[in-house]
Amino acid sequence: MNQQMVLILDFGGQYTQLIARRVREANVYCEILPFDVKSEEIMALNPKAIILSGGAASINDKKAPKLNTDIYDLKIPMLGICYGMQLMAGQLGGEVSPCSMREYGSTHLFVEDKQDIFSGLSGEFMVWMSHGDQVKRVPDGFFVTASTENTKIAAIANHKRKLYGVQFHPEVVHTPDGMSILRNFLFGISGLNGDWTMKSFIDDSIRQIRDMVSDDEQVVCGLSGGVDSSVAAALVHRAIGDRLTCIFVDHGLLRQYEAEQVMETFADTLNMRVLKVDASESFLGKLVNVTDPEEKRKIIGDEFIRTFEREAAKLGQIDYLVQGTVYPDVIESGTAAAAVIKSHHNVGGLPKDMKFKLIEPLRQLFKDEVRKVGEELGLPPKVVWRHPFPGPGLAIRVLGEVTKEKLSILRLADAIIVDEIKKAGLYGDIWQAFAVLPDIRSVGVMGDNRTYAYTIVLRAVTSFDGMTADWYRFPHDILANISNRIVNEVSHINRIVYDITSKPPSTIEWE
Ligand code: XMP
Repeated sequence: MNQQMVLILDFGGQYTQLIARRVREANVYCEILPFDVKSEEIMALNPKAIILSGGAASINDKKAPKLNTDIYDLKIPMLGICYGMQLMAGQLGGEVSPCSMREYGSTHLFVEDKQDIFSGLSGEFMVWMSHGDQVKRVPDGFFVTASTENTKIAAIANHKRKLYGVQFHPEVVHTPDGMSILRNFLFGISGLNGDWTMKSFIDDSIRQIRDMVSDDEQVVCGLSGGVDSSVAAALVHRAIGDRLTCIFVDHGLLRQYEAEQVMETFADTLNMRVLKVDASESFLGKLVNVTDPEEKRKIIGDEFIRTFEREAAKLGQIDYLVQGTVYPDVIESGTAAAAVIKSHHNVGGLPKDMKFKLIEPLRQLFKDEVRKVGEELGLPPKVVWRHPFPGPGLAIRVLGEVTKEKLSILRLADAIIVDEIKKAGLYGDIWQAFAVLPDIRSVGVMGDNRTYAYTIVLRAVTSFDGMTADWYRFPHDILANISNRIVNEVSHINRIVYDITSKPPSTIEWE
């Protein structure tokens, strides 16, 4: 790829991905690399600018993450943010020590040098601070360019070497002028063009895919109907047409009319070659008497792989496999393994030893960028803006043993929830909203009769990335509509409850 790029070096700060998103919002392509990257690797990538992220460590700790110092001599413009600024100051001969009191929150920044990163900004504005150390003395050749009441050295610059540091966080929304500071750094100082758009991304990707796959080669893609695999498939189809075959495995654990919708969108509307495999009997057969959530995941994951392999083998020689890997998967797989809470990423995924070469056209994109690519490619909004749906499907929303009867109850209730939320115009405000069927029954009364029937749990959350989530504050009349409709329209249900726990301590799914 010969486009202009910015490197963000990750010192473990919680906002590193956010910095990347902001840079991309400025139409500049960027990548995140670990802090200990070598200068030769950087030169090979030829970035036009480098940003050092924040981080929780103190640069004076022995184990603190450090930059290889020859990187400062590469003559690449550099911006250190928070820990990044302290590190730059410390490594280049300045002094960093603990603040008398940790500074956290919004504060007034007083700009003393209104050029370069502060060009075009007013002399005083609000910034977001979060630090326990501060720069006490700047290195030779550096100037103090801004201060706050508690932090005398809140921004530094070595104009000649194009090295800059800010103690505050320009990437967060609590620094309203933060984007202007980043733009000044990217465009004014580093000379970037800002011409990276989803349209240019699509054009580049199509060219690359055509270069990679020759005319006599065949490509296969596992389509789930989810946003990532749908956009990946549509992009590859745009590049190579019918040399792509999609395999859509219906495991019998999909939502109401989902299989029909996937076929309608991809086969009928987009004219893609889609092979639908109805494997529901074998999946449901394997789930009889299984109640443990992790065992369900494993069975479904294994069965999915077997089904996919069997169907792919029928297609003859296949050279490439398309996967909808997105950038957060790539970054996360580069860091220390987090504790396995649920074995998500093994489910619905394919084994590592498959013989195909991989095409992962979305590897560089964040989810919101994937959606924009989907829109550019003409995918319908119902596909592009769909709520995430787990690989094991409704099997982890029917608590305990999965039966056909329970699945059909759950499907009807779930469809009502989604319908009511869409009618109220709330679908786009919610990360996920769905029904859960716990393995309990309770007493009710309907007409003159006593009932003893199932409960439906309504789960709806807001989230940025699914890692943490908050329960959604529904207007009460929407809750009432959902409740009334489910008990009236779905047999075997006499009670609706709303899950009001956030993640953590709960998870989004119930299993
Ligand atoms: P939890 O329940 O862990 O879910 O808060 C976080 C996000 O991951 C989805 N999820 C899964 N996705 N296979 C998947 O492909 C799984 O086994 C799985 N379990 C949870 C969940 O829907 C939410 O978006």
